[in-house]
Amino acid sequence: MRAANETPLKHLIPPEFLEPNWRFWSFVFISILGSILIILYKVPVYDGLTDPFYTPTVLILPLVVLFRLTCYAYRKDYHRHLFKHPNSCATDVRLDTKSRGYSGETGFFRVENIHRYFMYTAWGILPFFYYDIYHSIVYTGAITVSLGTVILTINALAVTFYTFSCHSVRHLIGGYKDCVNCPVNRDKKNSIYRFQSRLNGHHEAIAWTSLIMFVFVDLFIRGMIAGIVPNILLIHMGL
Ligand code: FES
Repeated sequence: MRAANETPLKHLIPPEFLEPNWRFWSFVFISILGSILIILYKVPVYDGLTDPFYTPTVLILPLVVLFRLTCYAYRKDYHRHLFKHPNSCATDVRLDTKSRGYSGETGFFRVENIHRYFMYTAWGILPFFYYDIYHSIVYTGAITVSLGTVILTINALAVTFYTFSCHSVRHLIGGYKDCVNCPVNRDKKNSIYRFQSRLNGHHEAIAWTSLIMFVFVDLFIRGMIAGIVPNILLIHMGL
């Protein structure tokens, strides 16, 4: 229950945001700086390659950021490593041994539940990554496959696996039963659910691989523009 001297605003702002926590504030600073740099220093479509941060436009970046920020995998990481609690799944003890523990998805952090809706926006953005691959192949008027095309393809696959290994997707296709022994989860014919569950078991690793790939592709194209990285031509066939 809220104390009589607490203002509604104080109730809304989680104590995690009010602490002198250098880890958290460094993260906020780097994230804001990174976003400003991406917006200011736009990468043009170069040698047929589109930077994934601008697919299809930098304007959708907030949706992508919110999808990732509310992702269960990143949530675990930032609650544990930025807010320092919960220390592990079975305890809410803080890493720095202060008394206040983890309060879960309550108060402000209830907003993280909006993740299931960002999942649909992620589905809408996915086709553009594949269009970018297609564009990189045909933009010369011939069939052209370069190192950049291969890197774009790996990135598109990483984003696809990331999106479809999502916990909300698992919930949508059978996990809503919330019971591992329920028929839908034991059904041997429910191969999509079982396949997705296997994928979901690696969601955190896939999430980080996909994020690193995003940054890698961005740096690769910027490196090409700066003349540091060659875009090696692998296949070139006239139509
Ligand atoms: Fe990570 Fe949905 S839980 S993308």
